[in-house]
Amino acid sequence: MHDIVLVVFAFAALLALVSLLLPLATRVGIPYAVLLVITGCAIGSAIRFVSPGVAMGPLSTILDALAGFNLTSQAFLYIFLPALLFETALNVNVPRLMDDVAPVLLLAIGAVLVCMFFIGFALMPFAEIGLLACLLLGAILATTDPVAVVALFREIGAPQRLSVLLEGESLLNDAAAIALFSVLAAMLTGSGAAGPLDAVLTFIRAFAGGLALGAVFGKIASAGLMMFRDHRLAETTFTVAIAYLTFIVGEQYLQVSGVVAVVSAGLVLSNDGRRKLAPSRWDYLTGTWAQIGFWASSLIFLLAAMLAPRLLADVTWHDAGLLVIVVAAAFAARAVTLFGLFPLMNAAGIGERVRTSHRLVVLWGGMRGAVSLALALAVTENAMLSPDTRQFIAILATGFVLFTLLVNAPTLRWVIHLLGLDRLPPEELALRDRAIALARAEIGEAIGRLAQDRGLSAETAGRISGGYAGHSALGIDPDAALDPTLRAYSGLGILVEREQEICLDYFENGTVSRRAIAELITLAERLHDGVKAGGPEGYLAAARDGLSFSWSFRAALELQRRLGIARPLAHALAHRLEMLVVHRLVLQDLIRFTGVKIQPLFGPATAELLHSSLKVRMAEAERATKAIELQYPRYARTLEQQFLALSALRLEDESLHRLRAESIISQEMFRSLERDLRQRRAALERRPALDLGLNRGELVGRVAMFADLDPGERAAISLMLRPRLTVPDEVIVRKGERGDAMYFISSGAVEVRIAPTPVTLGTGDMFGEMALLSGQPRMADVVSLGFGQLLSLSRRDFARLLKTSDKLRAHIQAIARERRSARPVRPQVAE
Ligand code: CMP
Repeated sequence: MHDIVLVVFAFAALLALVSLLLPLATRVGIPYAVLLVITGCAIGSAIRFVSPGVAMGPLSTILDALAGFNLTSQAFLYIFLPALLFETALNVNVPRLMDDVAPVLLLAIGAVLVCMFFIGFALMPFAEIGLLACLLLGAILATTDPVAVVALFREIGAPQRLSVLLEGESLLNDAAAIALFSVLAAMLTGSGAAGPLDAVLTFIRAFAGGLALGAVFGKIASAGLMMFRDHRLAETTFTVAIAYLTFIVGEQYLQVSGVVAVVSAGLVLSNDGRRKLAPSRWDYLTGTWAQIGFWASSLIFLLAAMLAPRLLADVTWHDAGLLVIVVAAAFAARAVTLFGLFPLMNAAGIGERVRTSHRLVVLWGGMRGAVSLALALAVTENAMLSPDTRQFIAILATGFVLFTLLVNAPTLRWVIHLLGLDRLPPEELALRDRAIALARAEIGEAIGRLAQDRGLSAETAGRISGGYAGHSALGIDPDAALDPTLRAYSGLGILVEREQEICLDYFENGTVSRRAIAELITLAERLHDGVKAGGPEGYLAAARDGLSFSWSFRAALELQRRLGIARPLAHALAHRLEMLVVHRLVLQDLIRFTGVKIQPLFGPATAELLHSSLKVRMAEAERATKAIELQYPRYARTLEQQFLALSALRLEDESLHRLRAESIISQEMFRSLERDLRQRRAALERRPALDLGLNRGELVGRVAMFADLDPGERAAISLMLRPRLTVPDEVIVRKGERGDAMYFISSGAVEVRIAPTPVTLGTGDMFGEMALLSGQPRMADVVSLGFGQLLSLSRRDFARLLKTSDKLRAHIQAIARERRSARPVRPQVAE
């Protein structure tokens, strides 16, 4: 047969095998990766031991093809890795990852370094192969595969935060390990850095450069997706192209780490895509990627395992001894990270604590998977490395991966059992029982209604719905022997789930944007963790956190302040307002839900508790909304109108479908009306731009102090002033700090926190002048009371201003004198 035919034949046979193995793994109850490895080893043995002469028809052709399968080291890196990592990155919930970004980054890079050095230095005295090769092995084995642990965590109901942390850590640690791998491999082949310092610099450049390149490509991908409206096939194709292009541009043209770039592009796209694409489009995209990722990881496992018999045939007792060292060093490294680095980070106030039992699961579940195997295969096939090094890495890397898959993976469940993590805590049990009761009660009611509507006999209906009611009676009794705390936990659990559903309903109705919904669903997930961690207080704390300014908002704020770029901030503010508006609608629905559903199930006391928690949330959401509305009332009204208009369109859409269903309008007419509706919706869905109102001329005009100056002077001063937006509760000036600028208030209000009573300053006032005049530290905190617009004047310009304008100098000095004498100063211009 022709070569290409053989390759296709072999691939097709492997895919057929893979498709059978997945259901088989579920049926037999062993992890899929383990089954793949066992099968791969079996094929490898068959290739080795079945002599080519034995006639087995097509089977021998397949075996021949597989034996001659000669994928180069480049092929493993260039074909499989981008697909594998891009897919994993797409599945990461980025806002939740950003909650823990510091610990994730520290852990990812820290864990990789610890693992590399532990394995490298533990092996060096025994391996007779040089430190570099030992470190290279350490880097290969530093990648962890969290799939098994995350799946189990989900099963036992561990906080979702933990899974996000693990997935994020593993993804970034893959990226860091592969970047290190490239640096070390290049050093070993003599084409890379010469010394340790050089290597460190190369690594940092590769990592940081990769992140930046990926961010650019990720943005290109998300911009592309916006262009391909309604062309799902093009969308997915584009993202596949982006994943590989990012990798190649990074590796070949910019000499930065291609994998880091792919991961970063995937994360950026995941963040944007979830917020901007309709759920069905996003599901299609990630569904296709799941398929690609599945092929990549399955084939890596199979191909690597197929080589195992050949490699292990040459294993000596010495190698077995080295493997024991690798196992001990790898687990010791993981333990040091989890029980040393982690608590250290907690002590420094970074990241939240993780329970010891969960850490033990992470330790034992530190499986190595497809990425380690792909790197090992790349080394095995790299002709530039010495045969000894290739043999050493291939045996130990494959050996260790097999060890974790054959020893750790099958025993992980047992460890969980030993730690008692598989027993549901009482509150979880209560939650489950109540949830079932709620569902059953609803079914009972629905059946009763259905029977009535359809005129079925009351007796039949009663028999069926009675079965449900009988079950649910146990749960519906509010005075059941359920402790009030547990009742509160259960009620909150249900409430959180309901919140997610309501959010999705809103989106399906098309009345609110994907962006706002994505954020609210993330909030509901945080609430879920909050309830788990601290019941009602945890719930409220998570809700409060959810309303605080997001990292992207803060980044936009910094961008405006430092570089004067206002667009991202206008975007972020408009988005926040939109999110808050929807948030309040969701809360209203939840309050209603509590009255109708929770009260009968859990009794008045629990309902009251949930009701008051929701009221607190509502009050906070209203306060946050008011703050923006006060500053941008016109924009707030526009958004409200838009929401109503979209709701009207939804009703129109429903009536259109009804008319069509009743055959009152023809198919053609329906199509044309629907097209018109779609166009109007598309126009409405575009959020109007928000004008931050940071126009310097206008802001200067609002400060009375500048009104008396002659136009020339005013223009000169105006050039020195920089507009800036303040957000509620922001500390603009901090007591004790050195003064670097002073501020004029163009709108809004601030509070000067001086004893005994704080002073409020409003539009037209100024503050922060005293530290500049006296050279003393700031004498009080000045905090913004809401959104406001300020004009800031730097220390240098302040000095210039005093020289140029006598009038202003006298005015500012007079106010400062008065303030120093601690007599409260009345605002200059009443609001
Ligand atoms: P500075 O000391 O630079 O920083 C804190 C600012 O609070 C201070 O400048 C004044 O602008 C302002 N401030 C201090 N005392 C008063 C006061 N009594 N009334 C109004 N503003 C004050």
